[in-house]
Amino acid sequence: MKPLIAPSILAANFANLPAEIQMLNTSQADWIHFDVMDGVFVPNISFGFPILEVVHRYAQKLLDVHLMIQEPERYIETFKKAGADSITVHYEACTHLHRTIQQIKAAGSKAGVALNPHTPVHLLEDIINEVDLVLLMSVNPGFGGQKFIQHTYRKVEVLKSLIEMHQSNALIEIDGGVNQSNAPILLQKGADVLVAGNFVFSSADPIQTIAELKQISL
Ligand code: DX5
Ligand code: ZN
Repeated sequence: MKPLIAPSILAANFANLPAEIQMLNTSQADWIHFDVMDGVFVPNISFGFPILEVVHRYAQKLLDVHLMIQEPERYIETFKKAGADSITVHYEACTHLHRTIQQIKAAGSKAGVALNPHTPVHLLEDIINEVDLVLLMSVNPGFGGQKFIQHTYRKVEVLKSLIEMHQSNALIEIDGGVNQSNAPILLQKGADVLVAGNFVFSSADPIQTIAELKQISL
């Protein structure tokens, strides 16, 4: 099966956002990954609703919203209204994760849970049948362009067996430092969705780079 490719708009040229989205529309990208950072959960601030509305206005791809924010339950419905097709919250940011996942689904979005690099996969045992995707952070969240953490390979294996054991339909999404060298290994271990920011947008030909990622198969 071919991977789903989700270029991260965080690495795009914001001075030319409509053109960047048009480029993604013509590419083989499956989703557009949208990173929201609040300066509290992570040491950086990115963008929020007005920019998501612009992306939504131009995008012909699914909008995959990754909330790196505290108390994400305060904003779920507003993100859905702004165009989020899927909403992923961090395990580490949710005291009542089960309730927040139900809230996302009730709003009409796909529901995802994200794990920081230090958070063990086994903590998902009691939520794995409720989520549509699990996002494994392969860098510490907050910035694009960081180096891929190798331990992620092991986490993908553990997550894949947890999903199989519970007969969950959750997709495995990998976020941070994804490139042409680690992508084949990630897919072989069981990843379904690859987020790529700098690897796509800093390349000479982003459309071609997306096509190459899409062509990687097992
Ligand atoms: C990091 C973000 C990532 C980031 C990925 O906190 O969650 O989605 O945009 O960018 P690259 O692929 O450059 O690591
Ligand atoms: Zn992300």
